[in-house]
Order: sequence, then structure tokens, then C-alpha cells
Amino acid sequence: MRFQLKTYGRKVVFSAPMAGYTNSIHRRFARRFEADLVFTEMISADGLVHSTKRTLELIGFSPDEQPIGIQFFTANPEIMCQAARMIKNNGFAVLDLNFGCPVKKVIKRGAGSALLQNHELALEILSAAMESGLPVSVKVRCGFESCDEWERTLELLRKTEKLGVSFVTIHPRSARQMYSGISDWSLIVEAVNELNIPVIGSGDLFSVNDVEKMVKMTDVAGVSIARGAIANFEIFTKIRALFDNEPIPQFDTLHRIETMRNFIAEETKFYNETIAIKWSRKFLVKLVKNIPNASSFRKKISHISTFDDVNLFLDEVKKLNGTI
Ligand SMILES: Cc1cc2nc3c(=O)[nH]c(=O)nc-3n(C[C@H](O)[C@H](O)[C@H](O)COP(=O)(O)O)c2cc1C
Repeated sequence: MRFQLKTYGRKVVFSAPMAGYTNSIHRRFARRFEADLVFTEMISADGLVHSTKRTLELIGFSPDEQPIGIQFFTANPEIMCQAARMIKNNGFAVLDLNFGCPVKKVIKRGAGSALLQNHELALEILSAAMESGLPVSVKVRCGFESCDEWERTLELLRKTEKLGVSFVTIHPRSARQMYSGISDWSLIVEAVNELNIPVIGSGDLFSVNDVEKMVKMTDVAGVSIARGAIANFEIFTKIRALFDNEPIPQFDTLHRIETMRNFIAEETKFYNETIAIKWSRKFLVKLVKNIPNASSFRKKISHISTFDDVNLFLDEVKKLNGTI
């Protein structure tokens, strides 16, 4: 099941790769809520080749997550080549290369966004990734130090296009910016105009309204939703409706609370209860982020350690009877 954007005949919505969030259960929910394509979090190609336990866990998925993309980061073309061959027949729909991660641990190895400063190596890694036989895509930020480097990044994207990349995803912030400031969608407009392959837009898409604005401004082939989907899988269904020219469904607070309950229940089956609850706390924090007195709720979340605690907590949020 290879991912081919043109077969959709409309714009597409992706569940973006997010380290520490987009595990198997998250991806299952994103698909149930109609994301067209989901991604693993970034996987160390080196970790896979050396078969570390953690990496093998990270690449597992269930059929109801498909189509699923695997995202790799590495600074080593040899390793990329081996990793590409290893996952060749694992059922992934696309292999995505991370040329955007700003995290110190990754860039100090010359991987992620550091590759925006080493195009030669980036292209070698790309050629190696083609060994998978899968469609290969690339995800970039606008530059490493600042978006002033955008022209160079665009040049890199032109070269990836020549090498046969299927699509590119652009998060128009620099690596140094991390998540500060706002993403500069005008750079996405340039990419859409300059490239012949589909461009996927990422950055500051927290609502259907944001997506409508980005699509209008940039005419991207699709959007990739990251933070906006945390504790808010419903966003995928709404965006799909937008792209299908259908009425946008509304979900009430109760729906979001019950979705979160089901999500955490499935996490407890996936991990053991202790790990699942620890993992799930950040989703609960996000769920109650905008309610009045959120800080007292956050305090309560830090004491949640069992699924029974989660149930009591969600019942309490439910009683507020408000919008979250
Ligand atoms: C916690 C977190 C983890 C992320 N992990 C990854 C990752 O593993 N790979 C990747 O390409 N981008 C990663 N990103 C970046 C997102 O995919 C996305 O491009 C970025 O957050 C901008 O989109 P947003 O404004 O909708 O959040 C991560 C972002 C966050 C917030």
C-alpha cells in the first residue's frame, strides 16, 4: 500500500510525526478520525540498524494504522541504506526523511536540521533512502539559523525533486526558532510555485480555520497537523470534511472527553498501566489547557497514577459542563 497523493483527487491531511506523542495508539486514533496518512515519530536509522530494543518498539504498527509513513533521521548514508533495506517489506506506505529536527542531541550528530547546512550529505542520505523502493519524502524547516537561508533550502528541495522525491513537507520556522514566533507561510507559497512535486504545509495549524487560511494562501496539496491534534483527534475529521467539501462536523466537550478516555484505555492495553498513565498525562494537560482554573487541574494530573484516577479526573472535567 504505497502512498500516492494523486490518487486522492483532493487535498490530504496528515498526522505529523511527533516524538513522544505519535505512538501506535495515537496513530490508530488519528486514522479512525480520518487522517489520510500517519507517521511514526522520527526513528534513528542507526538505532534500527543496531536493532536497539527501543527502536524496534518504535517501528511496530497494527494494520488499522495503515497507510503509515516511517520517518528516519541519520547523518550516515551507509546506515540509511541498510535501514531502508530493513524496512522495505514491512508495510510502510512512504519513507520520510527528517531534515528539520532542531533538537541538540540530533543536530550534534549532523542529522535533522543540521543537514540543511550540508546539502551534499542530505542528498546522499536521500539516495540511500531510495533503496527502500518506497516513495520517499522529505521534511524540512526553512533554514538552520534563520529563514534568511530559505533560498538555499529551496535549492535543496529542487535537488530532492530531481532525485525523485514524492512530496515535501515544509515547517517554515528555522531550527534555531524551535517553536517560537509564527511560521512564515509565504515561504510555502514560494515552494508551491517553484516545485512540481506536491508540497505539504506544516506550522501553526490548530483549527479548521487555520487550515482554510493556509490552503487559500498557499494552495498546498495537503496539510500536516502536529500540536493541534494533541488531545484533539476530532481536528482530522473536520479537515477531511473541509477537503471533501462537506459540512464540518462539530464535536462537543463531552465527545472530546470520552475520546480521551478511550484513548487512554487503549494506551493501558498497549503499555502496562503505570507506563501508559505516565505517558498519557501530557494529553490530559492539553485537554484542560483552556478551562478556567487549569492550573489546579494540572496539579491533579501530576498525581494521577491509575486508569481509575483518569476516570475520576475526566468525570470531574465533565461536571464543569463547559467548553475545553
Ligand atoms: C513534541 C513534538 C515532537 C515533534 N517530533 C517531530 C518528529 O519526530 N519529526 C518531525 O519531522 N517533526 C516533529 N515535530 C514537528 C512537527 O511535526 C511539526 O512540523 C511542527 O510541530 C509544526 O506544526 P504545528 O505548529 O502544527 O505543531 C515535533 C513537534 C512537536 C511539538
